[in-house]
Amino acid sequence: MMNNVDLSNHNGKVVTITSGNGGVGKTFLTASFATGLAKLGKKVIILTTDINNHILAMLLKVEWGERLTVYTTYDNKKLIVNEKTQGLNYWLKNGKGLLVKVRENLDCIPLENFPNINKTLEKLLYKLKYYYDYIIIDNSFDEKRSPVIFKYSEKIIIASSGGVFCTKGINRILKEVDISKISNIIFNKYLDWKISRENYKKITKMLKGTPINLPDRIKELSIIRILVDDSKSIWESNDQRIKETQGIIMNILKRL
Ligand SMILES: Nc1ncnc2c1ncn2[C@@H]1O[C@H](COP(=O)(O)OP(=O)(O)OP(=O)(O)O)[C@@H](O)[C@H]1O
Ligand SMILES: [Mg+2]
Repeated sequence: MMNNVDLSNHNGKVVTITSGNGGVGKTFLTASFATGLAKLGKKVIILTTDINNHILAMLLKVEWGERLTVYTTYDNKKLIVNEKTQGLNYWLKNGKGLLVKVRENLDCIPLENFPNINKTLEKLLYKLKYYYDYIIIDNSFDEKRSPVIFKYSEKIIIASSGGVFCTKGINRILKEVDISKISNIIFNKYLDWKISRENYKKITKMLKGTPINLPDRIKELSIIRILVDDSKSIWESNDQRIKETQGIIMNILKRL
């Protein structure tokens, strides 16, 4: 399907979710944005630089075996990811590979080995931009964050929890990337503590007069943990407790 792409219409947008600290919800946000856009009828693909492929576990049914993790894809295929999988590294080398269907309108390229993001990323993204409206990258937290990914992203979203190292982490990324690409700084897993309130204030002040959006804070909620554990997206629940989060994410999606 993806051979011999000519063409003029490579309009897909690359949106990268990143953070200056680990565990702040990049993968959760990636899953929420990607499923939200797919529900709105956009064609979406997720790439990940996380060797643990948490995004797959977040969106697909998983059987955690002692040695093997088996996922069930949206089109009911069994999937095991190992070095032989034709994942992101294979795509980068060969310009083709495995697409895992995770929802209607939503595919994912898993990561089979430590990411070797190189110059061929540009070529791969160019190809994907023809088939997909959005390419969402779950950029695993890592000190050697890949400048190549930032270079070829149209938009960058920074996630933060508001915790102690929050401003340090955000400032580090602001130094690494082209600031005009940053569309949002999102406080997720937010707990209403003094330090997080102060950090939110600091960032609000810092962003004043810039085009960077600081959406409402996404709280740390037990319902989110429950949905994640059940491999459900935030759009697949009618629970009252998730309504506020849905509203915040939908507002962000409208600006992507
Ligand atoms: N708003 C939230 N409320 C409650 N739990 C959350 C929320 N956002 C994320 N989580 C949970 O927090 C954990 C970490 O989230 P996630 O894996 O998305 O973070 P991450 O930034 O991708 O982590 P890593 O740096 O390891 O890749 C997950 O178990 C997820 O279910
Ligand atoms: Mg992650």
